[in-house]
Amino acid sequence: MKRKAAYPIDDIILHRWSPRAMSGASISDEQLMSLFEAARWAPSSYNNQPWRFVYAKRDAPEWQTFFDLLVPFNQSWAKDAAALVIIASRNNFTHNNKPSRTHAFDTGAAWQNLALQGYKDNLVVHAMEGFDYEKAAEVINLPEGHTIHAMIAIGLPGDPAQLPQDLQARETPSDREPMQAFVHEGVFKRDKWSNLTPEEIAKADASGTAKPLRLWARLADQENPKELGVTPLHQAAFAGDLTEVNRLIQQGAEVNARDQYDWTPLHDAVIQGHVEIAKALTAAGADVNAQDNEERYTPLHEAARMQYPEIKKVLLAAGADSTITNNIGETPSDIEDRW
Ligand SMILES: Cc1cc2nc3c(=O)[nH]c(=O)nc-3n(C[C@H](O)[C@H](O)[C@H](O)COP(=O)(O)O)c2cc1C
Repeated sequence: MKRKAAYPIDDIILHRWSPRAMSGASISDEQLMSLFEAARWAPSSYNNQPWRFVYAKRDAPEWQTFFDLLVPFNQSWAKDAAALVIIASRNNFTHNNKPSRTHAFDTGAAWQNLALQGYKDNLVVHAMEGFDYEKAAEVINLPEGHTIHAMIAIGLPGDPAQLPQDLQARETPSDREPMQAFVHEGVFKRDKWSNLTPEEIAKADASGTAKPLRLWARLADQENPKELGVTPLHQAAFAGDLTEVNRLIQQGAEVNARDQYDWTPLHDAVIQGHVEIAKALTAAGADVNAQDNEERYTPLHEAARMQYPEIKKVLLAAGADSTITNNIGETPSDIEDRW
């Protein structure tokens, strides 16, 4: 997929990603050291610089030891890396040996610097947690009071066609949750799934009209899709798989298919905050005013419930009627006003 930022950001941040296809060629020490140099300039509490990197290049004697730590899945593609790096940090401050709350946080910043520099240098940089942490501590001789966080594979880009079959389809930049899912003004307002406060969840659960209930219903439906009228297009729209949505539309899938709740794929895309999918569906003729058979919610009601302003714009531009009322007489803006 082509990534799209909702607000302006630097291209390097938007387009860095974690490919798996590498050529198997070696890289020079200069190339590798540039990455550690980038890590070096990360900010850290007290400028304590708690990050530690231990590496093995593919032609070094330690390579095999590092490689053997990886789970088979990671071995299947990391075998073509030029270097494997274990990232650790010192748990206590160096200046007073008191515990540092932020050693992991600081080290995360250093890793991201390294990854961005790698992207800029046309290298593959891919983090992994799929390896044996205890054994890793042993083989690298990790000092007391240090923590291992992750391992990274670094290499020169390779041909995706050389990857194991199942990984070829995944060799593309991934999307992200909408910002509303993780940014809160003032207080921490919502839970990850429902986007509601704990109080609202309790209240809404009691009245049976909760977003969480809808979400759980949908997740349950995904396990038993056919009997419940959930089509592949509903599933792809819910999962945020734009490529699959476009493919299904092109193949003539029913854009306005209804499941047992009369939810359309557009409802599903909106519930999950997938702006691009909402655009694709409306462009393909999705009924922006479709109402479900329980709460009588249109996609615009869902966008209001979830506070997705971007999606609201998309729906209004596609002709959504903001005067339609749900089962308790609310328009989308009535719902918005509840927040
Ligand atoms: C700490 C960490 C551990 C990860 N572990 C693995 C792993 O074991 N295997 C793997 O294939 N990808 C792993 N990943 C890669 C993530 O799946 C990837 O970063 C994420 O899906 C976001 O994609 P992007 O980096 O392409 O933007 C890991 C990433 C991080 C940051």
